[in-house]
Parts: sequence; C-alpha cells; structure tokens
Amino acid sequence: MKYVLIIGAKSELGIELALLYAKNKYNLYLAGRSIDSIKNKADRIAKENNVQITLHELDITNLNSHQEFYDSLNIKPIGIIYAAGYTPKQSEALLNWKETSNTINVNYIGAISILNIAVLEFQKSQRGFIVGITSVAGLRGRGENYIYGSAKAGFMTYLNGLRNSLSKYNINVLTVIPGLIKSRKGSQYNLPEFLYVKPKILANSIFRSQQSNRSIIYSGLAWRVIMFIIKIIPDFIFKRMSI
Ligand SMILES: NC(=O)c1ccc[n+]([C@@H]2O[C@H](COP(=O)([O-])OP(=O)(O)OC[C@H]3O[C@@H](n4cnc5c(N)ncnc54)[C@H](OP(=O)(O)O)[C@@H]3O)[C@@H](O)[C@H]2O)c1
Repeated sequence: MKYVLIIGAKSELGIELALLYAKNKYNLYLAGRSIDSIKNKADRIAKENNVQITLHELDITNLNSHQEFYDSLNIKPIGIIYAAGYTPKQSEALLNWKETSNTINVNYIGAISILNIAVLEFQKSQRGFIVGITSVAGLRGRGENYIYGSAKAGFMTYLNGLRNSLSKYNINVLTVIPGLIKSRKGSQYNLPEFLYVKPKILANSIFRSQQSNRSIIYSGLAWRVIMFIIKIIPDFIFKRMSI
C-alpha cells in the first residue's frame, strides 16, 4: 500500500494534488491545521477513487510535535509533498517579530524539521520522493518581500542539497518554483492573467514531473524567462529598482 503525505493539504493546490494522487491509486495522509475542515472533500476523493485517505492535525510551526506525528503514521509514506506556506504583509512583518518568525517557521524551519525525520526512513528503505513548493521570491531578494523570499530561498537550498545527497539512495527531490498561483492568496495582486497558474494545472505539472523524476520546475515558461532576466540584472541597477 503506497501512501503519500501532503503537508499543507488544505490549500487549493493541496486538494488538487490529493485528487491527482488518489486517481493514480496512491493512498493519502493529508496534514494541516484544522484539517477536519476538508473531511467531506477527502471522503469524496477516497470513495470515488477507492483509496484510503486519513486526516492528520499538524501545525508545522510546532516543531516538538514532528517526531510524534511521523511515528504515528503506521505505514510510512513513499512520498512527501511539502505545500505549506505563509506569506506575510512585509510591512507588518517588519513591525511584528511574530509575523517574521511565523514566515520563517512555516516556509523553512518547519519544512526542514519534518523532512529531516522522514529522510532517515527514506534512506533506510532506499526509495521515495520529496516535493517542495518554494517560490520565485526565493530566487532573488526584492524590497517588497525579502522576509518571505529569504525563507523560501533557504528551503530551496535545502532541497538542492537533499537532492544531491539522496540521489545515491534512488530518492528523487523535486523543487517546484511557482510564480503566482490563482488561489485565494495569489489572486490579490493586480497582474496580467498569463502570470497566474491555476492550482489544477500546477498540480498536474507537479505530478508528471515527480513521476518522471525531474529536479526543478517553474509554474510556466513566462516565469522562467522573467526570473532569468531578474537574476542577471547587475546589483548596482537592481538595488534602485522598485519591483
Ligand atoms: N499563491 C501564490 O501566488 C504562490 C506563489 C508562489 C509560491 N506559493 C507557495 O505555494 C504553496 C501553496 O500556496 P497557496 O497560495 O495555495 O496558499 P494557501 O492556500 O494559503 O496554502 C498554504 C497552506 O499552508 C498551510 N499552512 C500555513 N501555516 C501552517 C502551519 N503553521 N501548519 C500547517 N499548515 C500551515 C495553510 O493552512 P491554513 O489554512 O491552516 O493556513 C495552507 O493549507 C505555498 O507553499 C506558497 O508559499 C504560492
């Protein structure tokens, strides 16, 4: 019985991923805060696809609970998708350490804490996959979102290292670098439609890429090009730009 663990499963992206893995006959552990709120959806997906889905309460910022949480999974997952994220209003995060600390804990420290535990199991069984959802914000620090961006950058570097260290165990690590997701949070920016990806489309792309053992994917060609340009702008120009 193959199980996939999705952390941050309540998001629209998390639900689309759950649906896709269920359709492909993976059983699921769906984890997050107040996770019972998706019980009806989870039950429907399980029934329609004839798979097992269980819900697991997990606040990823509660690092002390991670070992117990992982131990409580009777059959260890063959794959883990870390989709939890928190984007603060940077102006608020600069005034309120709790906001900054929550951003770092959800996007970086929580991810590392839980994945460090899981990786030990993966190494023993010499199989498995890890998918981490990061952000283009982590590719170059920008004045508008460098607190969130630096946490995602840390997560990206962790995933890079993990991919390198786990390849000899036959374990693939996929880094997903979305631009903007057409979700509750992503929709708040007033930007052209082509810069957004729908959760369902992104979930499809993640599933295909994970199944074919890819290493890094963006949420679309446009963002790949945009970030290539942003990364090569010399610092003496970049620091004067407001982007
Ligand atoms: N939206 C975008 O445009 C965009 C762009 C680039 C990257 N991303 C990344 O893509 C992923 C999905 O984003 P989204 O926009 O779909 O956001 P979202 O709906 O807010 O999803 C974030 C998920 O993380 C969970 N989460 C937050 N704090 C948590 C905690 N302490 N413990 C456990 N779970 C927690 C949320 O659960 P709660 O409902 O309990 O808060 C939610 O399920 C995130 O990693 C995000 O950073 C998003």
